[in-house]
Amino acid sequence: MLQTSPPCNRVYNKVVSGVPNITSHHTSLLFSTFYFAISILLTTVTISPHSTIKMPSFTVFKGSKDGSIVRSETSKPALTGDQILLKVTASGLCGTDLHYRKADMGLGHEGVGVVEETGPDVKHMKKGDRVGWGYEHNSCEHCQQCLKGSETYCAERKMYGQADLDQGSFAHSAVWREAFLFKIPDELSDEAAAPLMCGGSTVFNALHAYSTQPTETVAIMGVGGLGHIAIQFASKMGCNVIVLSGSDRKKDEAMKLGAHEFIATKGAKELKVSRPIDRLLVTTSAQPDWKLIAPILAPGASIHPLSVDGGDFTFPYMPMLMNGLTIQGSVVGPRYIHQRMLDFAALHKIAPIVEKFPMTEEGITEAMTKLENGEMRYRGVLIPQ
Ligand SMILES: NC(=O)c1ccc[n+]([C@@H]2O[C@H](COP(=O)([O-])OP(=O)(O)OC[C@H]3O[C@@H](n4cnc5c(N)ncnc54)[C@H](OP(=O)(O)O)[C@@H]3O)[C@@H](O)[C@H]2O)c1
Ligand SMILES: [Zn+2]
Ligand SMILES: [Zn+2]
Repeated sequence: MLQTSPPCNRVYNKVVSGVPNITSHHTSLLFSTFYFAISILLTTVTISPHSTIKMPSFTVFKGSKDGSIVRSETSKPALTGDQILLKVTASGLCGTDLHYRKADMGLGHEGVGVVEETGPDVKHMKKGDRVGWGYEHNSCEHCQQCLKGSETYCAERKMYGQADLDQGSFAHSAVWREAFLFKIPDELSDEAAAPLMCGGSTVFNALHAYSTQPTETVAIMGVGGLGHIAIQFASKMGCNVIVLSGSDRKKDEAMKLGAHEFIATKGAKELKVSRPIDRLLVTTSAQPDWKLIAPILAPGASIHPLSVDGGDFTFPYMPMLMNGLTIQGSVVGPRYIHQRMLDFAALHKIAPIVEKFPMTEEGITEAMTKLENGEMRYRGVLIPQ
């Protein structure tokens, strides 16, 4: 649970909670000495100029070597600069979290919460605001990439899995910079907004940053957390949307989400589409058979491989050359696109289909197992208890 007590209070609690272990032959003198020392510490804090600034301490859920989810406590220094302490209200479970399950780090990067406290330089957010955050936590703000609004490619970027490993969105609270938080539009509930923080941002960025036109035929491959949001975005952008999915199981829902055509790919030796694909977003959890894909692409088409995959990218060379294909890698949206994504989702009533789980060791484990087994429809969202 959220605690915002000064450090010495925490020490004091520890000492007090240790009292039952002190055996009867310890004299009251020993206790008095401790108490006296603690009182001095408390007094020091009370008279210090920073007495009003508290040091947050809160629950986080981490991965571990054997893949089990571990509940832990994280303590942060007093808020400085534009840091904000927020209380987490919802977190999406992204396919990428599965890759970090065995890492000793705070999991989760699709967070939504409410501002609890603000650092001295916070300007635009205040206590009570609903805010969200995603994959990137910080960047240098002065390199070429940062200056042109591509801070997601900043050499000093701080991203999930590489920095700030002591906290994630599977937590009761978190401390992040205001500059990397997003206000949540009123139209979006907490659980609808959470999956947009990474999944939504990633697919919207692939469409928006590379200038998707309403006249294009856009294919979405993989109907999972990312894919089912991508179908909605591409459809609302006015595109002809073709869905490529392993089997027919998700056909009805994909059509309801805005697809115009649905193709099951498993076991197919050849794929047939009514119109060649101008843009393909690959949101499967592993790379597809690119040889199957190349013949259904229009000349000049763009492929956006979004799957996280440790292997190499092996694509038929001559079809790429002769058809002028573009292979475009990308990560989540930079902040100005992320904010547009939230506004676009609010305006067009785009919302993920979610399955809710309690934010506990058991709830996270259950959600991860379901996602791993391909049974999630379509984004798991964890809700703190
Ligand atoms: N580039 C980025 O910045 C970025 C950001 C977020 C996530 N990602 C990555 O994007 C991928 C999708 O994430 P997600 O959260 O949407 O995951 P997800 O919910 O598990 O969706 C993945 C979909 O891939 C298909 N699939 C499942 N198992 C597969 C397999 N063995 N081989 C091929 N396809 C399979 C399924 O769709 P069908 O049933 O329709 O076939 C499934 O719904 C992950 O690799 C994730 O790490 C990348
Ligand atoms: Zn930079
Ligand atoms: Zn993600």
